[in-house]
Amino acid sequence: MVARVIPVDPFDLVIFGATGDLARRKILPALCRRFAEGQMPETARIIGAARSAMSTETFRQSVREALDEFLGASGPDAARRAAFLERIHYIAVDATGDSGWADLAALQRPGIVQAFYFSVSPSLFGPLAERLTRFGLVTPQSRVVVEKPFGENLETARALNRTLARHFAETQIYRIDHYLGKETVQNLMAVRFANILFEPLWNARFVDHVQITVAETVGVGGRGAYYDKSGAMRDMVQNHLMQLLCLIAMEPPHRFDPDAVRDEKLKVINALDPVRPSQVVRGQYAAGPDSASYQAEVEDLQSTTESYVALKVGISNWRWKGTPFYLRTGKRLRARASEIAVTFRDPPHSIFGEDAPWKANTLVIRLQPDEGMTLKVMIKEPGPGGMRLKDVALDMSFADALGGETHIPDAYERLIMDVIRGNQTLFMRGDEVEAAWAWTDPIIAGWQRTADRPMPYDPGSSGPDSALKLIHQDGRSWREIR
Ligand code: BG6
Repeated sequence: MVARVIPVDPFDLVIFGATGDLARRKILPALCRRFAEGQMPETARIIGAARSAMSTETFRQSVREALDEFLGASGPDAARRAAFLERIHYIAVDATGDSGWADLAALQRPGIVQAFYFSVSPSLFGPLAERLTRFGLVTPQSRVVVEKPFGENLETARALNRTLARHFAETQIYRIDHYLGKETVQNLMAVRFANILFEPLWNARFVDHVQITVAETVGVGGRGAYYDKSGAMRDMVQNHLMQLLCLIAMEPPHRFDPDAVRDEKLKVINALDPVRPSQVVRGQYAAGPDSASYQAEVEDLQSTTESYVALKVGISNWRWKGTPFYLRTGKRLRARASEIAVTFRDPPHSIFGEDAPWKANTLVIRLQPDEGMTLKVMIKEPGPGGMRLKDVALDMSFADALGGETHIPDAYERLIMDVIRGNQTLFMRGDEVEAAWAWTDPIIAGWQRTADRPMPYDPGSSGPDSALKLIHQDGRSWREIR
């Protein structure tokens, strides 16, 4: 594959929370790769901002260590890393006080794209935005990047939107859902809208059902304090799975541009049916031979937060009425495997007789790992013995198809460059996030009302047994997680 690197304009990116986990693990390594590939101009600057006082030299040393840890040996070579570190500066800034802000303001370069990355708790979005305005740092060239969780329900999301809107226009606000930056997730749009093949079949008449699975092997680890207040529904479904669902279900936008795409996604969210209690299953991982239970990890033996959720979702519009979407996600499952499987209906009549073996055509888009696509089709088994039918996979691994050494960029690489380019297509608009919460809130409120406990499941399994029933009762089954 020939990667096309289009350099972005010179910019200053201020990362608030620059010493935090996300900056070290994702943001800085992603920037280093883009720099090494020649996409970031030599004149670009990255300004780390955090509360602790430290020199730029000390901060650079900590970034160097983060790059060693998270880029490993396969990343850019030592010379490129050293050149990247030259682009980095540090300023101690108090998010809730006034110290450091005048120094930050003094660093600004008029006329240059300025991005402010809020890699901090949402409770600091307001104080940061207010100080950026007060110290004269907000200009028409400014952009602000905010991480999930964007609120914890509709009310808090609305409040955050209102706070940001006091300081920035919607066109300056970049709400990150890193799933939208994954190459294979963008590929969903290419598969659907750059091929004539699937679109005529992409509706309830021809699609029996859709399964969206995001399975992880990891537990909540050191994130227990955050996760226990959130759970799989808020942490994964309201954002990542919802975005995948939208990309599969939306109408073709008239152009690949930010508002055209986001208008179509919003229509899908607004058309989602409310989920009845019988259509959702919650799970929580139990202890295994080598791993602690969810409750032990979050240090609350009474916790009723779900680490797994499975749902059956209906969409009330002309295209999808009658085709269920089954969604599931969980931690400590059998494998790390994310995929979307579109299962088509059976042909109306078999010319090969009633007894001919039959397997439905299924299009599987593997998001991670081993990104690729498989289409299951029926063929005649070769050789004598009559017309014996068999299902085979037309299988494509993107890595093989596009040249073995292709580095699939991390989602953050693409998304941060989009911020600098001013392209919001892969970011969530305020109304979209609110609509997603408006659909999610009643499901969570239902659990709180009934005080139902999540079903325990074994680590390394594919989730609680009741999730099997959720789909079996419709005469269907989950695809194996492997
Ligand atoms: C994050 C969630 O948004 O996505 C995590 O907060 C989850 O709980 C992660 O583990 C999964 O991302 P990825 O890119 O590893 O699939």
